[in-house]
Amino acid sequence: MSDLAVVILAAGLGTRMKSDTAKVLHRACGRELIAWPVGLARELGAGKVVAVLGHQADRVKHVLDTRFGAGAVDIAIQDKQLGTGHAVMQALPALGDWAGPILILYGDTPLLERSWLDKLLTAYRDSGTLALVTVRLADPTGYGRIVRDADGNLTRIVEQKDASPAERLISEGNAGIYCISAPFLREAVARLGTDNAQGELYLTDVAAAAAARGRVATVEAPPEQVLGVNDRADLATVEGILRGRITRMHARAGVTLRDPASTYIDAGVEIGADSELGPGVVLRGKTRIGARVRLDAGCVLEDTTVEDGAHLKPYTIATDSSIGPAAQVGPFAHLRSGSVLEADAHMGNFVETKKTRLGRGAKANHLAYLGDADIGPKVNVGAGTITCNYDGVNKFKTVIEEGAFIGSDSQLVAPVTVGAGAYVGAGSTITKDVPAGALALTRVEQKNVEGWAAKKKERQAAAKAAATAPTRK
Ligand code: UD1
Ligand code: MG
Repeated sequence: MSDLAVVILAAGLGTRMKSDTAKVLHRACGRELIAWPVGLARELGAGKVVAVLGHQADRVKHVLDTRFGAGAVDIAIQDKQLGTGHAVMQALPALGDWAGPILILYGDTPLLERSWLDKLLTAYRDSGTLALVTVRLADPTGYGRIVRDADGNLTRIVEQKDASPAERLISEGNAGIYCISAPFLREAVARLGTDNAQGELYLTDVAAAAAARGRVATVEAPPEQVLGVNDRADLATVEGILRGRITRMHARAGVTLRDPASTYIDAGVEIGADSELGPGVVLRGKTRIGARVRLDAGCVLEDTTVEDGAHLKPYTIATDSSIGPAAQVGPFAHLRSGSVLEADAHMGNFVETKKTRLGRGAKANHLAYLGDADIGPKVNVGAGTITCNYDGVNKFKTVIEEGAFIGSDSQLVAPVTVGAGAYVGAGSTITKDVPAGALALTRVEQKNVEGWAAKKKERQAAAKAAATAPTRK
């Protein structure tokens, strides 16, 4: 429905978050609160999205531009928060002469799901002027109440602070989600007044104006859909619910989660079928996991791609990296930014990589630091190997060509190249290029002193006897 425009109200200060960061920039499941309603607007194919911002508008705009593309969301600024009606007024210039329906959402209610908006849009089409979402609450304190006539038709919304004792007993609350005709909105908003307990321009007053013209349609949603974030306790509650939805969604799509309660998967992470996640797995950001991948306990991956059939053993940590098909990693491996493991590569325990490619079938199985290195296919990197990539000022590259063998406890002082099929003897410090097929060895030749241990014992015994003998005068 591309004739749909979406207005997101997000100018509120969010004082109760007790934060230097605007409320709508706090994240739930890796996504800023405001990105959730914008994501919904996208899913609905909205022709226009306007966010009404106040606090830290520049930062919010930057996040929206980064996530959704520069200018994808129009920004309207509300300098003073004079009420929800006033907030919508600030969005009108950006809407121009938009003729289609306008959906109004809040920037701090990330639990709302598409299916309820579909119901709202259907209800709107029946009404033609206004449809809104209501919730029934055991304790509706703080919510605007839905006032209905004897026939059950909505006549107006009364805010908590303006409500009579009888009206306060109404358990049906206003969720703050509306679909409204654009021409009617422009007209009704212009007629809003501040004659109320808070001296604000209430958007809710458009309900009475719409009721005076005809029927206002309502859709009753479960309270969970419209739970707002006011403080960090709410944020934790909301994130817990979102997390449950995300893990269930993956489980239904064919992913085995050994312990969903300890599994943290950000919104937008992809996981292929028949993959298996152990307890304590954390998948963040733009992480993409292929099919039949095994992620054992405690793996933490951020912005990382793992291809089909790879196996990450416990406590593998990876950031901004890519792991090829059938690769084996860990336990306790650390792939820092820019690590690329090609198909069938093995990276074992206590190996750290950074900006390093480990070619197809290459192995670095134990205790190594490989930084700024290009390691060819089938290379074997021995235990304790270190690429010395940093001279205190600059970083330099190490190249190890196909099939080379690096003996244990070697240091490769970059910039340096070890040619294809070459060998580096264990314990070497390589400072010059090694030609293909050569053996490079830099250690001191071994010397054996026969019978040395027995002679040492004799010397020690003699020294002890001399020390304990009585002294003669
Ligand atoms: C509003 C509704 C109330 C409803 C409740 C549901 C009005 C007058 N009342 O109450 O009927 O039950 O939401 O949560 O609309 N905002 C701005 N600029 C402003 C004021 C608010 O952008 O000047 C934004 C806030 O950032 C927030 C949203 O609008 O995202 C709702 O504001 P809030 O103050 O929480 O609404 P309530 O007054 O509690
Ligand atoms: Mg308010």
